[in-house]
Amino acid sequence: MNTAMVNAECRMQNAKGLAFDVAKVRGDFPILSEMVHGKPLVYLDSANTSQKPLAVITATDDYYRHANGNIHRATHLLSERATALYEGARAKAAAFLNAGDPRSIVLTKGTTDGINLVAQSYGRSLLERGDEIVLSWLEHHSNIVPWQIVAEQTGAILKVVPINDRGEVEQDEYERLLSDRTKIVAVGHVSNALGTINPVKAMIAKAHARGAVVLVDGAQAAPHLVIDVQDLDCDFYVLSSHKMFGPTGVGVLYGRPRLLESMPPYQGGGDMIASVTFEKTMYNQVPYKFEAGTPNIAGVAGFGAAIDYLSSLDRDAALAHEDDVLAYATAQVSAVPGVHIVGEAREKTGVLSFVLDGAHPHDAGTILDQQGIAVRTGQHCAQPVMDRFCIPATIRASLAIYNTREDIDALVRGLHKVREIFT
Ligand SMILES: Cc1ncc(COP(=O)(O)O)c(C=O)c1O
Repeated sequence: MNTAMVNAECRMQNAKGLAFDVAKVRGDFPILSEMVHGKPLVYLDSANTSQKPLAVITATDDYYRHANGNIHRATHLLSERATALYEGARAKAAAFLNAGDPRSIVLTKGTTDGINLVAQSYGRSLLERGDEIVLSWLEHHSNIVPWQIVAEQTGAILKVVPINDRGEVEQDEYERLLSDRTKIVAVGHVSNALGTINPVKAMIAKAHARGAVVLVDGAQAAPHLVIDVQDLDCDFYVLSSHKMFGPTGVGVLYGRPRLLESMPPYQGGGDMIASVTFEKTMYNQVPYKFEAGTPNIAGVAGFGAAIDYLSSLDRDAALAHEDDVLAYATAQVSAVPGVHIVGEAREKTGVLSFVLDGAHPHDAGTILDQQGIAVRTGQHCAQPVMDRFCIPATIRASLAIYNTREDIDALVRGLHKVREIFT
């Protein structure tokens, strides 16, 4: 995209984004007024973990002050309060994903936990020698390794769809790799390394036509896009609370109810049982069958508040704002001499990955940090993506609703400083 096109796009997005009050949003996030190394914090690492609004911090604190008890088991008031917060968050997650039935929502530790659950419960019980699991080259390690483990356990085979030079999944190759042996397709909605938005709805339809089920890794989509699991028609959708302004250690696995019903438990323990004798254990109904042990109740309470917070925003306006900042970042950072953008997909959100001639990303990251600018450098848990572009690492600026064009100006000043030191 040339600069004139970017500017035209920015103007259009600004016009669309007028409803979005970024100053107000920034005021909701206390940490954004933090000083680091004596400089105001410029946080450009939200794909790694997002910052938390006061509403989430307060909800977590309130849980410990007023509701700390275990869920589902006691008759006292605190336990009732804890259970209401926990089940309330489940209902909010169901509404957030338009899942319909809250029983299709399993509360997990996060995206990684959700994918491992599906791989070990659904995958391990279904897959046979020679069956195929289709992944894309863009996947996060969390959407690769669990499938490698289950493939080793069952004799199934991994098939990997290549990506093109823009960082888009090759759709012709995807269709070619799907076969009657394909049992599972596991694909990211949005790439954490490059920001590519995959056409998951069309990919799901193609997989279904071959009789395969589809898991969508929504870790990077949930903070940016409106997700409708019924419209996508996916079989499983996983996400992490901490990427969408909630606490760490909490996530969601949405599962198509009839699939969840048919799946064996993932882990055994408290809360996932209906009755236990030494002869036979009867399992609880879904989703509790998949929620063994005492969960992160405070985190789930905070997650409920994060969903409320996100839902209180005009999501279209928020996305238009983020798109504006991403287009601005793409134009401004590209103009820094020696910068090469990695990942120029036609559909992108939230992420700008790049390399800078003469400076290793880690060194650049350290110098940026000294300027108060937090970015992530490295392979972003997506080593195959780095290998595809023959680079060891990138510098990644990742955006959220609270970022501004001024943050990008600070990044560009920081990159000039890196150049001064290294060139
Ligand atoms: C696309 C994607 N999938 C999976 C994960 C793993 O998420 P978590 O560490 O919250 O389980 C991440 C985290 O960066 C991610 O970006």
